[in-house]
Amino acid sequence: MPTVALGAIIGRSLAAARGRDCNLAAMEIHEVAVVGLGTMGAGIAEVFARAGIGVVAIEADEAALNRGLGILDASLSRAVSRGRITAADQAEIRGRVRPAAGFSAAAGVDLAIEVVPEQLQIKRQIFAELDRVCSPEAILATNTSSLSVTAIAAGTANPGRVVGMHFFNPAPVMRLVEVVSTVLSAEGVPDAVAALARRLGKTPVQVADRAGFVANALLLPYLNHAISLLDAGYSSAADIDLACTAGIGLPMGPLALLDMIGLDTSLAILEVLHGEFGGDRYVPAALLRRLVEAGRTGRKSGRGIYTYPGGADPRSDAGPGEAGSPPDTVTLIGSGDSAEAELASVLAAAGINVTRNAAHRSDLILIAAQAGRPVLPAALAAGRADEAVGMHLPGTLAPGSLAEVVQTSLSSPVAVSTGMALAAKLGLSAVLAPDRPGFLVGALLYPHLADAVRMVQDGYASAADVNTAMTLGCGYPTGPFELLDTAGPTTVLAGLEAMYDAYGYPSFAPPPLLAEHAAAGIAFTRRGAGPRSADATTAR
Ligand SMILES: NC(=O)c1ccc[n+]([C@@H]2O[C@H](COP(=O)([O-])OP(=O)(O)OC[C@H]3O[C@@H](n4cnc5c(N)ncnc54)[C@H](O)[C@@H]3O)[C@@H](O)[C@H]2O)c1
Repeated sequence: MPTVALGAIIGRSLAAARGRDCNLAAMEIHEVAVVGLGTMGAGIAEVFARAGIGVVAIEADEAALNRGLGILDASLSRAVSRGRITAADQAEIRGRVRPAAGFSAAAGVDLAIEVVPEQLQIKRQIFAELDRVCSPEAILATNTSSLSVTAIAAGTANPGRVVGMHFFNPAPVMRLVEVVSTVLSAEGVPDAVAALARRLGKTPVQVADRAGFVANALLLPYLNHAISLLDAGYSSAADIDLACTAGIGLPMGPLALLDMIGLDTSLAILEVLHGEFGGDRYVPAALLRRLVEAGRTGRKSGRGIYTYPGGADPRSDAGPGEAGSPPDTVTLIGSGDSAEAELASVLAAAGINVTRNAAHRSDLILIAAQAGRPVLPAALAAGRADEAVGMHLPGTLAPGSLAEVVQTSLSSPVAVSTGMALAAKLGLSAVLAPDRPGFLVGALLYPHLADAVRMVQDGYASAADVNTAMTLGCGYPTGPFELLDTAGPTTVLAGLEAMYDAYGYPSFAPPPLLAEHAAAGIAFTRRGAGPRSADATTAR
């Protein structure tokens, strides 16, 4: 049978199977049920009520219901005290939330969202109840972060009306909602939920049902990589976090973020991701498992990667390194490239005496480092390798803020502390990085960007959707593809190739789509650097 005829038959069959559900999509949402008023559910109920939608609030028992309403009341009172809403608004919003004694109160709602603990068994029970009481036209949504929406839907009588509606924490603040459709979703239902998200003032990203959706599938392996670098002694916790804040411009370092999310929660999501994708990137770092086993689950237990004395700011358990004195005279070694010119001008601006001849006396041999090239050969060629460190300024991402001081296997402790003191004198935050591909910033960032490129390459999400998910869901100041275009596809490609050559991990292998963009000189985003820019969505 010709393929086209087969396609037409399948298309007609699917349309027939889904036809009975089409009225779901056209429906106006006047009232919703929120099942589970914990951390997320209380916030989600607030979001609906603030948008003028009536909320039936359902909990496991009366005590839990009162606790959940207490979270909601506290949040609304905070909004009043900050002047975001008036006391009259508060009363009106609160009046839209109707506490319910049981599931039967959801009989008249247009949409019910389940926000109970992340266990398939509990969620299936909730959906069985909702299936029983809700009208056949009602949409049923789950806020699951990592379970299969398809598995939840498949356990219901009408799986066509089941979708994922994944809010981010805190729900009233975070603007992203991932709308997840399954192979069973009725046509139009995901669009109706996306339209509802927009009505709530959120930005929906519509995706198919895959573990971690967009944001968690990209965020968790990056966090896992950061803790595995700490575990391997690659760098200190403080430097790993500083590399990402000062070097990339992220609002929080990955280790501090792990502590905030909870190491146990992060481990559970990684296990789901590993179960689905299986690659090296998702194997939870041994240190992550050990910390969870030890009960060091992060901020909530007062101790995770960092210690939180009395709930205050994090304190690293490692002591500060030895402080050195900045050099008066530096021997600058480079290969006549932009890295050398940039370092020379920074040194000149700080009034440091610079010589270019390694035979002349100086306090430090400074190799102008490039992310894809090792420092050691230049240090050896200078003849005083013990007095040499590299310095790399990854300034395109967060201009003028970070220096990576690169320690080779021959750098003396004095050279290292002098290099760190030099960075401070130059007015830069400094991290100590080993002489390995990508140093520290690239080692963390390039595999993260490769994951994002693979997600687009696989046809799962567009570059624009990935950028939206990471900025609105994870608080990135710019999306991964904007970061990639700023660093330059060629630079990222070279960094990944060097990392793949050095370690051989499959996840470091540059994705073909990245190689194509680098070869063609095409940026991933319209506003990105590069001779030509492609529409982010055409890459699908
Ligand atoms: N916490 C987050 O940062 C976050 C972010 C996005 C999504 N999620 C997802 O949201 C869901 C809820 O997470 P959470 O952090 O709000 O959990 P939580 O433990 O804070 O809240 C769960 C609530 O469900 C209630 N509950 C339990 N069984 C119930 C039942 N049979 N009927 C009615 N209510 C019941 C509990 O009493 C509790 O109040 C999970 O699927 C989670 O993966 C969480």
